[in-house]
Amino acid sequence: MVDASVGGKTGFDHPTGKNLLGAFHQPSGVVVDLAHLSTLSARERTSGLAEIVKIALTSDASLLDALESDAASIARGETRVLAAIVRRAIEAKVRIVRDDEREKGLRAILNLGHTVGHALEAHGNYRTHLHGEAVALGTIAELAATSRLGLTPAPLVDRARALFARLGLPSNPSRAEIAASWSFVASDKKRVMTRIRIPVVTKPGEARIEQISLDSLREAVFAAFG
Ligand code: GLY
Repeated sequence: MVDASVGGKTGFDHPTGKNLLGAFHQPSGVVVDLAHLSTLSARERTSGLAEIVKIALTSDASLLDALESDAASIARGETRVLAAIVRRAIEAKVRIVRDDEREKGLRAILNLGHTVGHALEAHGNYRTHLHGEAVALGTIAELAATSRLGLTPAPLVDRARALFARLGLPSNPSRAEIAASWSFVASDKKRVMTRIRIPVVTKPGEARIEQISLDSLREAVFAAFG
């Protein structure tokens, strides 16, 4: 509703990793029906919130403030509050995709949390974590790593962790689980030889892409959770 609905990115999972096969293909229309959310379990609905946090962290500081102000109502699934948040997340995503439909540049910031997150999902055979839960854990792991590398302000990592927790999402990645999942990071489609293109949040609502060596990323992740 808030992420995959916009921008036509389609993907299939492959035994070697998540979404490794796919194409950009725009739908002829998108229907966003908040009533659908009431058909989901609380866990599924909460899982979807991770993508809103991702969009806020990378692209919309005022949406991040709104998520923090209304976290309790959002976590309860109050439709009036969710309607405003969902709209703002979609609008923020449209602004990015409109300028970079095929992910030649900026759109890649929307992969925040998805390098480690996809690895956790694949390692758990897509049964341990729902997608949003893995994205929340991956976001914290990646923010903590880029903070160790001096690229992300440390208070932002704490802010993201507190917000995920208030929304009912997992916020404490397990070092052992990340270590066990790391082979999937190495086969991520964003890898370029020995480096990987990773979103770096430089301040609330702003991000850029950095190419970091896989070794540096690994060291930074493990140092952050040592
Ligand atoms: N889900 C991230 C994107 O559409 O680019």
